[in-house]
Amino acid sequence: MSEGRVRLTYRLDHGRERDVSVPPGVTAFDAASWNGIAIDSTCGGHGTCRKCGIRVIEGTVPIGSLDIRAFGPEKLREGWRLACRAAANEDLRIEVPELVTRPKAATVGVGRQVILRPAVQKRYLELTEPTLSDQVTDLDRVLAAIDDLELRVGLSALRGLGRTLRAADWKVTAVIVDDLLIDVEPGDTSARRYGIAFDLGTTTVVATLMDLATGAPLAAASMLSKQQPFGADVITRISATMMDSSALDKLRELAHETLDELAQEVCKEASVDPAEVYEIALAGNATMTHLALGVDPEPLGVAPFIMSARSFPSLHASDLGVRVHPAAPAMAFPALGAYVGGDIVAGLLASGMDRDKRLRLFIDIGTNCEIVLGSAYGLTATAAPAGPALEGAAIRCGMRAAEGAIEVVKLSPSGVEHGVIGDVRPAGLCGSGLVDAVAELVRVGLIDASGRFVPRDQAPPELAGRLTEVSGERVFVLHGEVYLSQRDVRELQFAKAAIATGWSLLFEELGVTARDVQQVLLAGSFGSYLSPASAVRIGLVPRLPLLRIVSAGNVAGEGAKLALLSLRERAGADALMEEVRYVELSDRPDFNDRFIEQLSFPV
Ligand code: FES
Repeated sequence: MSEGRVRLTYRLDHGRERDVSVPPGVTAFDAASWNGIAIDSTCGGHGTCRKCGIRVIEGTVPIGSLDIRAFGPEKLREGWRLACRAAANEDLRIEVPELVTRPKAATVGVGRQVILRPAVQKRYLELTEPTLSDQVTDLDRVLAAIDDLELRVGLSALRGLGRTLRAADWKVTAVIVDDLLIDVEPGDTSARRYGIAFDLGTTTVVATLMDLATGAPLAAASMLSKQQPFGADVITRISATMMDSSALDKLRELAHETLDELAQEVCKEASVDPAEVYEIALAGNATMTHLALGVDPEPLGVAPFIMSARSFPSLHASDLGVRVHPAAPAMAFPALGAYVGGDIVAGLLASGMDRDKRLRLFIDIGTNCEIVLGSAYGLTATAAPAGPALEGAAIRCGMRAAEGAIEVVKLSPSGVEHGVIGDVRPAGLCGSGLVDAVAELVRVGLIDASGRFVPRDQAPPELAGRLTEVSGERVFVLHGEVYLSQRDVRELQFAKAAIATGWSLLFEELGVTARDVQQVLLAGSFGSYLSPASAVRIGLVPRLPLLRIVSAGNVAGEGAKLALLSLRERAGADALMEEVRYVELSDRPDFNDRFIEQLSFPV
């Protein structure tokens, strides 16, 4: 037993052994699934299937009540225990029988295989009717049938209990979330249990309805945040609450309307009654989470940028205005700091950054860009103020990534080729199109290393005609009325310099170089559309082989799904709070010099 950890040695098929080390108290089942070792199970560790038998061959695990039901005296003497009940409080050597049924698992996040163990579980119960000689209360009758769990009971579970038990002829299903009994439903509803994962972005909010029995996503919907009229970024929304005392209430209501509309939409699409949604999970940045909960965000917006709390315990879906089961709890991801929020913790969870031995760089690009560098041996995070250019704002012909936006630009001897969202006439330029356009113009020498358009007579002849002026400013015409101006290039330089300064200073903090980075994960919706080649060309990401640069997609939403599907993964989010070191780079004395160095384009 090393300090604060216990070692579990699993003896697998053909005598193969695997060692893992976990904090004391973790069950043999959780420690195995956490480390990718499969143990038989169909209930995901809830103690109901009795398929997770293991034999403890060295060390001691006390016999529990479920072990007595699962094994005869002889097997118990031989060391047989249920893995999901076998808490490891000392070093153990464990024999794992060959698999008969694979545990139910789902692939979530960046290729993560997760064994299902949702907080929401259901137990079908056939109870005996009370008699004059059996005066046990209705609640005790239910609890006695679930005696392997120590349950707390919500008032919601009691309200209709008497009527439900009698109307259903004492055949009912208990709905349990974590250790809380929230409802007792008539009949056998055990196959129907759902949750909704929310990615609460500043611009866009996404909801995914998850089948918690199978791990499958059933429906997804997204919409622009209804808070948009209060400003496109978090600082403007915080300022709104500082200037108008009623703005916080209004912003909270708008967040609730957004979340609830999406919840109703995904339920409708999958023909699921919202009352069968028993838990929701929310991944959002610190400001968006504060606003959705109606918590004053002002301290987040002014130095020294302090959150009201890193985590919000005991939330209900109703606290977020989401009309699902009336007693459904809500889980909101904790935040590491005012500008490295719950969305990033969710993203790190989904990408498995804290378990991968490879050195990886995680970049979530937005108005505020979060950057995390590290591996299973430690993670360091920082935030870089990239500004709105990469979201198409502050750009002369900029627009969001919506229909009509040029998202891909390629220059060839025959001119300019572009990909337009929706395959319609170009109406503007979104972030990925901006990066592509500048990268291509740098590649052909039409923009020099300092970011200036070269004189027309030095431009490639087939493109020189596109260099012109609009309102006295030099521009490059991409299509019709859509052009890239000299000032747009400057805006992009500021954004990419902020991000590149962030990761290059993190390299210094950790004493590594770009070459040591084995994978760059581009997170967030913008990251998914960004061309890795263009990102390298303008110096937004380190110069690495393109295969090492991966679009990780909406990892915040994936993290929220993980939290719904696995209590173990949810505990991983809490562990990240201890494992990630946050560094503030902007107060380094050399920050400005480094930022200026990063403004130029690598040519
Ligand atoms: S995993 Fe089902 S009883 Fe242990």
